[in-house]
Parts: sequence; structure tokens; C-alpha cells
Amino acid sequence: MNAVVSLFPKAQGDTLPAQRERVRELLRRRGAVLVAHYYVDGELQDLALQTGGCVADSLEMARFGRDHPARLLVVAGVRFMGETAKILSPDKRVLMPELEATCSLDLGCPVGPFSKLCDEHPDRTVVVYANTSAAVKARADWMVTSSCALAIVSHLKERGEKVLWAPDRHLGHYIQEQTGADMLLWDATCIVHDEFKSVELESLRREHPRAKVLVHPESPAGVIRQADRVGSTTALLRAVVDMDADEFIVATDAGLFHRMRQLAPGKTLIEAPTAGASATCKSCAHCPWMAMNGLAQLERCLRDDVGAIELDEGVIVRARTCIDRMLDFTARHPSAVAPAPSGFVPGLGAA
Ligand code: 13P
Ligand code: SF4
Repeated sequence: MNAVVSLFPKAQGDTLPAQRERVRELLRRRGAVLVAHYYVDGELQDLALQTGGCVADSLEMARFGRDHPARLLVVAGVRFMGETAKILSPDKRVLMPELEATCSLDLGCPVGPFSKLCDEHPDRTVVVYANTSAAVKARADWMVTSSCALAIVSHLKERGEKVLWAPDRHLGHYIQEQTGADMLLWDATCIVHDEFKSVELESLRREHPRAKVLVHPESPAGVIRQADRVGSTTALLRAVVDMDADEFIVATDAGLFHRMRQLAPGKTLIEAPTAGASATCKSCAHCPWMAMNGLAQLERCLRDDVGAIELDEGVIVRARTCIDRMLDFTARHPSAVAPAPSGFVPGLGAA
């Protein structure tokens, strides 16, 4: 029988507390700060908060990394998050526990065909979701995240601009419906949110008539239509804390439940359905790339200084313009962005 060989063998007698302690010590010794997304393992989220880092949505991760004085940022999330951190802080070293952690939206929008579409529509303002490569951002006029996409596209519509939107078609469709903007949509989806099912959600709602439905806008239109609140990961977290309800059906990655349970311990959270009643195979509603971030990978990247984000200087300069536009806009229109839940310090977590 073949033995299963761990890539990251623990030393004999190694324990979770010992491993945690080594990572804390490495962060301290290297003067590094940990910037984590809500979808990564709860262990890493807790570590980030306990060591002065942050757990946040993709917009707040970008701001936090840019503004933090540490010269070494460790980004626990997926590749585009590390690239955004590097573009905003080219002089800092940015490490990721797992460089192979990507995103189906990034994979679904290769720069060649994307640039061709942009060339074919020179009359349209190019707006890309954060979940794209640095090369795609370098070709765009604006970057947006799910926190501010609606406000930014409304603003462009008011200025009479037509939009070329990439890559998430569900989010693009939702924004188009809400704003009435003229939008040409790229056709890619998130493999996690695309799995939520509207018919099964209807019957789950009948079983839990008092539950509020919270939906991330990367979900299909039939799921979004049933939502009491649609929003970014931070907006959904805020809804659980602030809404006057005890029960919630949540259509987003299961990783967010960790922080929801910490900030709203008395409330009942139910996962939104991902398959029909007769299905034998259901999605776990957890991003396989976010799941690549573990304590062992984090320890290795800090100890061996591996997993550095390297980007071409020209790409950094060109991609920065569209990110800065978004950050300037959100700084000028703070109400356009879902505020963090009450009792919660933005970027840092519970006060
Ligand atoms: P947020 O910007 O809401 O954190 O979403 C990022 C993401 O990848 C959701 O799938
Ligand atoms: Fe990409 Fe979806 Fe994973 Fe978010 S959850 S990183 S959108 S694949």
C-alpha cells in the first residue's frame, strides 16, 4: 500500500498550539502583518486578528495592506488579492501561503480575449471586478469590488457612460438591473456562488418562514431575487449582526460563518441550498482555492520566504490607475460602501 506523504510534515510531538506559536513568532520576527479574507480557515482569521492584522472583504484588504506600515504583507486569500496588495504597495514584499490559489473568475477572463473585446468597444468604459489578473486590471478604466460596484456603475451611468463589464455575469446582471446602465457583460461565474439553487431556496424559506435571506451578488439572479439583503461579505456580516432577526439563510462561502458566529453568537445560520433534493452530490459552498491557505503553508512561506508576488513594473503602473480610481471614489463617497458591523473596527474586527 502506498503511504500518504504530507507535503508539510509536522515535527514529532508537534501540536496545533505549538504550530500557532511558531507562526506568531515568525510574524513578529519578520515584522510581517497578516491580511486575511473572511473565506479562509477560521484558524488563520483568528491569528490575523490576534496579531494586529485584519480579516476583511477584498476592498478592505486592499486598503489595509496599502495603509499598514509593515514592509512585509502576508495575504491569506486568493491570487488576485495578493496582486492587488502588491500593485498598491510595490515597495513592500507581499507573500502568499499558496501562490496557486486562484479564482474561477480570474481564470475565466484571460487577458488576450478580454483586450480584444475592449478594442472592439472603444466607446465603453471598462469596469472590472477585483477578481481578475493584474494584466486585465492594466487594461481597465475602473476596478470595483462587490462593496462598491453598484455605486460606481450608478455614477458612470449618471455621467452618460456605457460600460463593458467583466468578468462575473451574475454580478454584472444584478448591477444592470439595479442601475439601468447600458452594460456589455463578460460571461464568467464564481464556481461557489453559481451553485446556489433558487427552487430549493424557495422550499427552505417555507420551512423557515422567519429567516432572513442574505445573498452575495455573485449568485444567480433567481437566488438574488429572494434576498432580504444582497451585498459583499462585509455587508452580509453586518446584516447578521444588525438585522432584527434570529435566523438567517446565507448564500455565500461557508468560510464567512466563522466570523458571523463570533460577532453574532446567539443567531442561527443556515446554509443556502446548493443542489436539488434528489441530488447525490452537493457543492460544499466552500472555495477550493481559499481552502488552500492553512497554518502549515503560512508557516512555510514566512520561514522560507517563499510565495512572493512578483509583477512586471509596467503592469503595476497601469493596473494601479483603475484601483486608485475606486479607492478615491470610496474615500469621497463613504456611504456608498457597506459599513462594517457595529462593535467592529474596520479591518480589525470586533472592538
Ligand atoms: P468580497 O469582495 O465580498 O470579499 O468578495 C470576494 C470574493 O471572492 C467573493 O467570492
Ligand atoms: Fe473566486 Fe468564487 Fe473563490 Fe471568491 S469564492 S475567490 S469568486 S472562486
